[in-house]
Amino acid sequence: MALLKITNQSCTSILLTTMANTRIKLNDNTSIPLLGFGTGTAHYQKDAQDSVADAIIAGFTHLDGAQFYQNEDSLGAGIVASGKPREKLFVTTKLAKPAEGKTVRDTLVESLAKLQLDYVDLFLIHTPLQFNAEPGALKAVWKEMEAVKKEGLARSIGVSNFRPTQLREVIDGAEILPSVNQIEFHPHVYKEVLPTLELQKEYGIITASYGGLSPVFRVKGGPLDPVLASIAKRLSDTTGKPFNEAQVLFLWQREKGVVIVTTTGNKSRLTEYLNTFDAPRLTDLEIASIDEAGSKEHHRFFVRVITV
Ligand SMILES: NC(=O)c1ccc[n+]([C@@H]2O[C@H](COP(=O)([O-])OP(=O)(O)OC[C@H]3O[C@@H](n4cnc5c(N)ncnc54)[C@H](OP(=O)(O)O)[C@@H]3O)[C@@H](O)[C@H]2O)c1
Repeated sequence: MALLKITNQSCTSILLTTMANTRIKLNDNTSIPLLGFGTGTAHYQKDAQDSVADAIIAGFTHLDGAQFYQNEDSLGAGIVASGKPREKLFVTTKLAKPAEGKTVRDTLVESLAKLQLDYVDLFLIHTPLQFNAEPGALKAVWKEMEAVKKEGLARSIGVSNFRPTQLREVIDGAEILPSVNQIEFHPHVYKEVLPTLELQKEYGIITASYGGLSPVFRVKGGPLDPVLASIAKRLSDTTGKPFNEAQVLFLWQREKGVVIVTTTGNKSRLTEYLNTFDAPRLTDLEIASIDEAGSKEHHRFFVRVITV
């Protein structure tokens, strides 16, 4: 009986983990797991080895890094420490402006050495703001991104923090389209990013979010609080399991078709994050009430430069 119980629990755990790792198809015929564990923000410039290993052992398969975070070596060490085969993982890193005399390829080769990998699954231009000082500079960088994909150093390529003008600049004349745009995404910026989402839809570019939990800890006391609390209560009552406001925000992002990049410095949250996607779907009314409450206040916490 005890054995049966343990087996059932482990089956349930595998099932829940699998739902968080549901693959979203990209426009280059690869795919990306729904939920990612980030090594910026809470881990920025810090050794992330233990947190990455814990996240992978808990069930995360999608890891998000960046040259700018200055901890790619610890992301690589965490992957090794987890013991998980590389091919079962999806690893992203992001391009910072190459130092004078270096190419995009040079920087990716350095990243791969730190990550102890032969390729990354996704390589993103971290921000257009480092590359758009001169006309044509973004297009030139994109050509270099296309080259590293063709060489197999990155399975997919994309961008981050791009607005429609910058996306159009890269798309125009591109041989390979960006597969992903990773942007700040939560109900307080949703209305503002709609034009970006519309353009991405035309080209099959998937949105990956960061900062998605901002309404629960970067801004409090606003119009979203009672809406999220009431949906969390409805989910808890329906399922008999506890759900919180952060999990409601994850579910809202899933309903928007977004790949979710989050993180934590707190090991105990890992299973909570992964188990979220077992929840029933949000209703259309709940989604609309989050959209509406979020649109009452605009809050942007990261790249604030406005270029439409
Ligand atoms: N492309 C870019 O420019 C860019 C910019 C920013 C971030 N990113 C990437 O995205 C990743 C995630 O970004 P993010 O940290 O902004 O993600 P987020 O999902 O908005 O926030 C994650 C934080 O939420 C907190 N949290 C979770 N549940 C909570 C609850 N119930 N109550 C209060 N706080 C709660 C956690 O705090 P604890 O740590 O205390 O658990 C955690 O640090 C980064 O690590 C990075 O990889 C990319």
